[in-house]
Amino acid sequence: MNPDLDALQPYPFEKLAALKADVTTPEDLAHIPLTIGEPRHAPYAGALEALTAHIGDMARYPATPGMPELRGAIADWARRRFALEGLDAESQVLPVNGTREAIFAFVQAALDRSRPARVAVPNPFYQIYEGATLLAGGTPLYLDCRAEHGFRPDLDAVPAETWRDVQIVFTCSPGNPTGAVTPLDELKKLIALADEHDFIVAADECYSELYLDEGAPPPGLLQACAELGRHDYRRCLVFHSLSKRSNLPGLRSGFVAGDAALLAAFRRYRTYHGCAMSLPLQHASIAAWNDEAHVRANRDAYREKFAAVTEILAPVMDFPAPEASFYLWPAVPGGDDEAFTRSLFAEQHVSVLPGSYMGRPGANGVNPGAGRIRLALVDELDATVEAAHRLRRHVERHA
Ligand SMILES: Cc1ncc(COP(=O)(O)O)c(C=O)c1O
Repeated sequence: MNPDLDALQPYPFEKLAALKADVTTPEDLAHIPLTIGEPRHAPYAGALEALTAHIGDMARYPATPGMPELRGAIADWARRRFALEGLDAESQVLPVNGTREAIFAFVQAALDRSRPARVAVPNPFYQIYEGATLLAGGTPLYLDCRAEHGFRPDLDAVPAETWRDVQIVFTCSPGNPTGAVTPLDELKKLIALADEHDFIVAADECYSELYLDEGAPPPGLLQACAELGRHDYRRCLVFHSLSKRSNLPGLRSGFVAGDAALLAAFRRYRTYHGCAMSLPLQHASIAAWNDEAHVRANRDAYREKFAAVTEILAPVMDFPAPEASFYLWPAVPGGDDEAFTRSLFAEQHVSVLPGSYMGRPGANGVNPGAGRIRLALVDELDATVEAAHRLRRHVERHA
């Protein structure tokens, strides 16, 4: 087998299962998991109706680039959402089976192994960036996201000679696990660096539609391009998904959009990869991209949970004020995220993810996720509020 497989780290949830394996939990408290980032709000009904209405299309093979109607619905959505002058549905949009699959596959298609191949990823981060890099024969470059820099990478801290070997830079805004949003100016700076050092910017924007201020949607990479007059989106790609936006993680539907030359190569790769989206799923996706009312309702539900949980936890834990995504990223008292996770599970029957499991030791040898935990506020309001009360009780008891 491919020896690069041995370089893959266990997934954070495997490490968590091992951490909790021998813990005895209280029998009188139901388990509340705040661990996996899987939305539990109701999936968008219009998409499910479209899915069943077109179920007969299972009898047909789908094509790699997807139906023109789907690419059109995506292009219209992205143009509206990010104030783009244009986005060509034929050459600048490609439907994919969710961002996870697309991120993984894109790195395989894009990395040039004949020269040094570094892939810059935010740290802490969504582990697929790293696994995709290792299996493509590349080397991850971890860019620490620390509180001092708004939980975003400090681009100025990367020396020119390091940029030279970088072929792809991943951004994750809104960020998992921190919820941090990258401002337009920083995206523009990254585009300038991409031109200077000849790398691709791959923007994972799968949380872009879950934001707290209805009047301030997070900016996107294509929007930054448009503001620069870069309407060919050269060197830039964005990755979007219906999983969080429309509560359809099981649909496996998203898209990649941007630079037509990169997408043409990626499309060619995907023809061999054999991952075309089935036709009923494409119809469901069209329905979802064409509707915003359900996304607004989704945001309202997260807003209500963030407000309730912040009120309960802010007096006892320190965390960045959430702007977007469905995560909270608090520091744990005492600074040991693994020990806190274990004792919280043992005493309060609440599961959280140790922040160190999502990070790697950075430039200074310190894991920037250490000392924090990730809380995914995906459950319904009552369970989430109950979990927050138990967390607070736990912190107060051990103060
Ligand atoms: C940062 C980030 N990117 C990508 C994904 C993958 O999402 P999907 O494949 O459902 O679009 C996730 C899922 O949790 C994520 O947190």
